[in-house]
Amino acid sequence: MADSNISKRGGFGSKFGIIAAAAGSAIGLGNIWRFPYVAGENGGGAFLLINLACILLIGIPLMLSEFIIGRNAQRNAYGSFKNIAPGSPWRFVGLMGVVTAFVILSFYSTVAGWTMEYVFQSFANGFEGKSPGQLIGMFAEFKGSSWRAVTWQMLFLILTAGIVLAGVQKGIEKYAKILMPLLLVLIIVLCVRSVTLPGAEKGLHFLFHPDFSKVNGSVILEALGQAFFSLSIGMGALITYGSYINKKDNLVSSAVIVSFADTFIAILAGVAIFPAVFAFGINPAEGPELVFITLPNIFLQMPGGYFFSIIFFVLLAVAALTSSISILEVVVAYFVEELNMKRKTATWVATLSSAMIGILCTASQGLIPWLQFGEMNFFDLLDYSSSKILLPFGGFFIALFIGWVMKPKVVIAEMSNNGIFKIPLFKVFQIIVKFIAPAAIALVFLYGIGVIG
Ligand code: PHE
Repeated sequence: MADSNISKRGGFGSKFGIIAAAAGSAIGLGNIWRFPYVAGENGGGAFLLINLACILLIGIPLMLSEFIIGRNAQRNAYGSFKNIAPGSPWRFVGLMGVVTAFVILSFYSTVAGWTMEYVFQSFANGFEGKSPGQLIGMFAEFKGSSWRAVTWQMLFLILTAGIVLAGVQKGIEKYAKILMPLLLVLIIVLCVRSVTLPGAEKGLHFLFHPDFSKVNGSVILEALGQAFFSLSIGMGALITYGSYINKKDNLVSSAVIVSFADTFIAILAGVAIFPAVFAFGINPAEGPELVFITLPNIFLQMPGGYFFSIIFFVLLAVAALTSSISILEVVVAYFVEELNMKRKTATWVATLSSAMIGILCTASQGLIPWLQFGEMNFFDLLDYSSSKILLPFGGFFIALFIGWVMKPKVVIAEMSNNGIFKIPLFKVFQIIVKFIAPAAIALVFLYGIGVIG
């Protein structure tokens, strides 16, 4: 039965295809927009170190777990839990993933819309002649006072829907394969320009010199949440993609390669951003606008900056697109397989609903000032609740599910492709998913929200 499903559901075509698609999901605004701003707000070096520890200890095993669940069950996030543990409440973990997908897509498309505006500004030479202060003003004015941001956001969501409609192999895989490697090259170029700016050392020091006096529960929870967000784990995006992976492919090596690639790009983004932040006198704790006010300054200081800024923002928008399709796919696969909708209907229903929440996110940046919850506006609230609550909760249950509910025999068979590959670290993996990951997530969460500590 599983095999007839594969042909009906579509799947990834090649080994490079899966890695490109999963890396396409992982690498996105989380690396280039979110990592620098969250690291900046949380003191830099120590945050990076804790973030790396979270990726190694919890992130990679959980990415692998999601692949295992998805490929074994051959279903969407909800259906996978239902298939493997029929009649049990575990399927609600999958349902929580579907809800999380809506939450993330709503604010993710806001930032993707900002990126598209910056593609436009790059073409129009809109940064030319502006001082660092004026570039800050330009961004504030754009995001807070016009419907332009909403228009870009809608355009981005329509593009996302278009690619999801084209199906897994023709849409998702085709684009991811070409564009991800190009993005890497461009970030390296940016790093070179940034570290050769006068005063760049301060930025490198900030990023690589851990100052543990700044670490508290909330910093640790941020570092964990950023690991989840950046690796796309905790909501079933990689369960869904896992269900499209060919039975012959090696899940372990795919998870390791994708996690390393994702982390490498985030660190490169940090190396591109922080030297420039200090060189131009920008506050590293500036918040979600950090990248949008720092990068234009770098481009202005580069020969050929006009062209580089166009290529960079186009690629960033594409990186956002290959991530957002993986988020939308969670909802669409659920609608199609569990609610029996047509793929087309499912895609538009999901896109439209998320557009409605998304508009509120974008508008909460200034257009609708009362969308404020204490210190946070609606955008911040969704950003906060997804990475600090929903994804860690999802990850907690996914670890328990692999560790305690799925039969070890089945897990081993998936990891080794029925004995073809050796899995010398299986015991370590098992201890992590059974005990270490759930305990660490629970402790970090309770400590982070101030319940213990
Ligand atoms: N990992 C993506 C990024 O870094 C965002 C994402 C989160 C995608 C959760 C899927 C699921 O941009």
